[in-house]
Amino acid sequence: MGSLILQMGVCIWVLLISFSCNLVDSQIESRNDVLQGRVFIDGKNAIATTDNDFICATMDWWPPEKCDYGTCSWGHASLLNVDLNNIIFQNAIKAFSKLKIRLGGTLQDKVVYQTENSHKPCISFSQNTSELFGFTEGCLPLSRWDQLSNFFKETGAEVIFGLNALAGKTLQANASSTGPWDSANAESLMRYTVKKNYTMYAWELGNELCGSGVGTRVTASQYAFDTLTLKNIVEEIYSGIEPKPRIIAPGGFFDADWFKEFIGKTPETVDVITHHIYNLGPGVDQHLVEKILDPSYLDGEADTFKQLENILKTSITSASAWVGEAGGAYNSGHNLVTNAFVFSFWYLDQLGMSSVYDTKTYCRQTLIGGNYGLLNTTTFEPNPDYYSALLWHRLMGRKVLSTNFNGTKKIRSYAHCAKESKGITLLLINLDNTTTVDVSLSLNSTLMLNTLKSPVHHHHHHHHHHRHHHHKATKPRNSKTGGIGTREEYHLTAKNGDLHSQVMMLNGKELRVNSYGGIPQLEPLYVNSSEIISVAPLSIVFTHIPHLTLYACGN
Ligand SMILES: *[C@@H]1O[C@H](CO)[C@@H](O)[C@H](O)[C@H]1NC(C)=O
Ligand SMILES: *[C@@H]1O[C@H](CO)[C@@H](O)[C@H](O)[C@H]1NC(C)=O
Ligand SMILES: *[C@@H]1O[C@H](CO)[C@@H](O)[C@H](O)[C@H]1NC(C)=O
Ligand SMILES: *[C@@H]1O[C@H](CO)[C@@H](O)[C@H](O)[C@H]1NC(C)=O
Ligand SMILES: *[C@@H]1O[C@H](CO)[C@@H](O)[C@H](O)[C@H]1NC(C)=O
Ligand SMILES: *[C@@H]1O[C@H](CO)[C@@H](O)[C@H](O)[C@H]1NC(C)=O
Ligand SMILES: *[C@@H]1O[C@H](CO)[C@@H](O)[C@H](O)[C@H]1NC(C)=O
Ligand SMILES: *[C@@H]1O[C@H](CO)[C@@H](O)[C@H](O)[C@H]1NC(C)=O
Repeated sequence: MGSLILQMGVCIWVLLISFSCNLVDSQIESRNDVLQGRVFIDGKNAIATTDNDFICATMDWWPPEKCDYGTCSWGHASLLNVDLNNIIFQNAIKAFSKLKIRLGGTLQDKVVYQTENSHKPCISFSQNTSELFGFTEGCLPLSRWDQLSNFFKETGAEVIFGLNALAGKTLQANASSTGPWDSANAESLMRYTVKKNYTMYAWELGNELCGSGVGTRVTASQYAFDTLTLKNIVEEIYSGIEPKPRIIAPGGFFDADWFKEFIGKTPETVDVITHHIYNLGPGVDQHLVEKILDPSYLDGEADTFKQLENILKTSITSASAWVGEAGGAYNSGHNLVTNAFVFSFWYLDQLGMSSVYDTKTYCRQTLIGGNYGLLNTTTFEPNPDYYSALLWHRLMGRKVLSTNFNGTKKIRSYAHCAKESKGITLLLINLDNTTTVDVSLSLNSTLMLNTLKSPVHHHHHHHHHHRHHHHKATKPRNSKTGGIGTREEYHLTAKNGDLHSQVMMLNGKELRVNSYGGIPQLEPLYVNSSEIISVAPLSIVFTHIPHLTLYACGN
């Protein structure tokens, strides 16, 4: 008996050892190239603040007939036809509590809203290549607006509705649209919305009509005038009604002169200035992955954020900046790139970078639909970026800290005060395909450090910067739960190391909805704070360090 127990004990012990040996083996394999890096965090002052609900995603109007480069990627993912009863869809939104959802896109400027007591038929978009944007006008039935509004209420979404800004305008031969906005149809939708008690976070005017426009354009001064019209009707319709929706414009590509003029003419009108980002080029591009993994390519977008921040700071406006729509690659993205693991390198870098330049909210094109959905168009299952967005939402607080990474350009680092928790959250993105980066922290301001020992250094200029091979495996193991002296780590990798995989691994485990359509728990690894933060090649690490109490975070 005794020997049986002993044998079983040995057996279990052997199992445990071989299990951890396997882990260690695979880590040694992937750790044959290790580099030491150091992230500097300025703990004194936050450099920017985001909205508490920074994450936003879009829903679009494209019908199933919308095709790009011979593929039709929208299916039934439009505002007019998406299945609102899908449980995964509902759970995916609820998991954020609150997710901002911006309703809009190219065809929004061709939408008419059904009105009560109207006998005109309410007909959907149909394809016609001689029409602007390739489709006829389409009508939003009030019954569908009821369904959508109830869905948003039940899932706790904050809704931004993009209005048709071309109503009443004349499309000129030179592609500009002239004349004032006819607000009558928008006004009737708003009155109906108020009557039904549907809460709106904001009304946004127009889509991609600023600057040189997409398809057509409107001058900044006319746009300022139209936006004032919107402001006035919102004031009137919502008089005595709370909460009052915000006014958002222009929802298009950044153009310094146009934006400067528009912002200068709308200081009392607009609450949020929105701009769109498709910096990777057309979805058909065969070099998207190379661009996404190229740090200098990613850096290219910083200038736009910087310029817009500067215009807002030097103007008398109190408006703030949002990214109102960003899908990375235009014309519906690229299947197995913009809806696969590799896109999280672009997406999380964008979230980090836009925050640094005081962007308050970032709307991803799309929540569902096209090749860039956070959710799969047919199964509604989350794509990798959905989990990236959810982790960001749960971990990254409002205050943005300045970081500076020393050791390699292939690491992108972003830090925020932690969300609804002590300490900070650090996001590290490793674009390198062969090198593991062991990251230590440096802080240059006074802080309270509640730990016995940690990889944090207070020195100003103490750098290790050397490569070595066959580094001893020191990957932190899961050490129980919580407590002082531990931090939480979320390591994101592609399934089977395939960047085009639509399955994300969190700490080595697949993220999948359960059989009831439930969004999985996002469980961290608890790591002894004295361990270095090790970022594997082509991986992303969020780490919440609760014991790091910085002045900037005031906790
Ligand atoms: C900390 O470092 C940042 C960036 O390197 C610098 O701008 C800031 O002035 C420093 N703060 C202190 C208190 O030294
Ligand atoms: C397409 O639109 C053009 C211009 O508005 C119109 O003249 C034409 O009749 C339309 N074609 C069809 C098939 O509806
Ligand atoms: C385009 O045409 C309209 C109407 O003829 C005119 O008012 C406007 O100035 C033109 N715009 C440009 C940029 O040429
Ligand atoms: C809207 O809310 C008001 C006040 O809470 C209530 O009196 C009214 O019945 C509601 N209307 C609808 C259509 O739910
Ligand atoms: C949606 O998921 C299914 C099943 O995993 C997959 O075959 C399909 O390619 C996905 N669709 C898109 C557009 O990603
Ligand atoms: C790793 O990335 C480099 C570019 O940084 C590229 O030249 C090389 O082919 C990649 N190697 C693999 C195995 O993908
Ligand atoms: C990074 O480290 C190198 C060498 O260790 C040093 O020369 C350089 O000044 C550091 N860069 C920054 C931004 O601190
Ligand atoms: C962390 O590691 C240190 C040094 O190895 C050890 O003294 C300490 O007890 C560990 N802390 C926890 C919470 O495991």
